[in-house]
Amino acid sequence: MEKTVAIVLAAGKGTRMGTDIAKQYLTVNNKPLLYYTLKAFDDSLVDEIIVVVGNGEEDYCRKHVVDAYPFQKISKIVIGGKERYDSVYEGLKAIEECEYVLIHDGARPCLRPEMINKTIEEVKTKKACVVGVPVKDTIKVVENTGRIIDTPERAKLMITQTPQAFDYEMLCSAYEKLFLQEGINVTDDAMVVETMLHKEVYMVEGDYCNIKVTTPEDLVVVKQFLNR
Ligand code: CTP
Ligand code: MG
Repeated sequence: MEKTVAIVLAAGKGTRMGTDIAKQYLTVNNKPLLYYTLKAFDDSLVDEIIVVVGNGEEDYCRKHVVDAYPFQKISKIVIGGKERYDSVYEGLKAIEECEYVLIHDGARPCLRPEMINKTIEEVKTKKACVVGVPVKDTIKVVENTGRIIDTPERAKLMITQTPQAFDYEMLCSAYEKLFLQEGINVTDDAMVVETMLHKEVYMVEGDYCNIKVTTPEDLVVVKQFLNR
């Protein structure tokens, strides 16, 4: 059987949210946002879940999330790093063996198990794929004076979400190469594979509800989505 492991990232500080506790631990209907994220993976076809948490937050996460609900698939809690890519790397190193790995933002609690399963199906043939949705607004490229320098064709633009799924060996070699570099500037896992290995990465059509909780207004809609 081909083993699939999910790395759920919850080691961020949530600076843009501005709350005392990190956004992944904010509650909706008495349950932390991270609960909803982990529940979707627990109910999906992934074999194992690794949760990456902030330094000093392990006991908190265990008490209020991991041990507080009857999850079946969580195998490890590991400590993340300074940047998202550091946390991903810690998660990758904690995997003993698997064929496919899914990286997911813990701050995206609205994804459905069906979306996860569709991503697993896709990665088996594509080897590298990410979930995303078509852009609804026109996007401008601007320079720092505010002057618009380009308007890319909207039909070609997709908003990238997570999960991002890869052949495990491929993602490990991309990350290993990344850390040999200076001045790392990547914002998602696909970009690591694109820039380090020049391998093809495919887009899987996702769901507009799979938003990342980033700023306070996101909580208003996430509450509605989670209540459905
Ligand atoms: N993340 C992580 N480790 C980091 C930074 C981010 O595991 N060093 C995780 C976050 O917990 C989140 C996901 O990566 O689930 C996406 O990151 P982002 O939305 O930027 O979250 P934060 O970094 O927490 O928020 P901010 O950038 O506003 O501080
Ligand atoms: Mg961040």
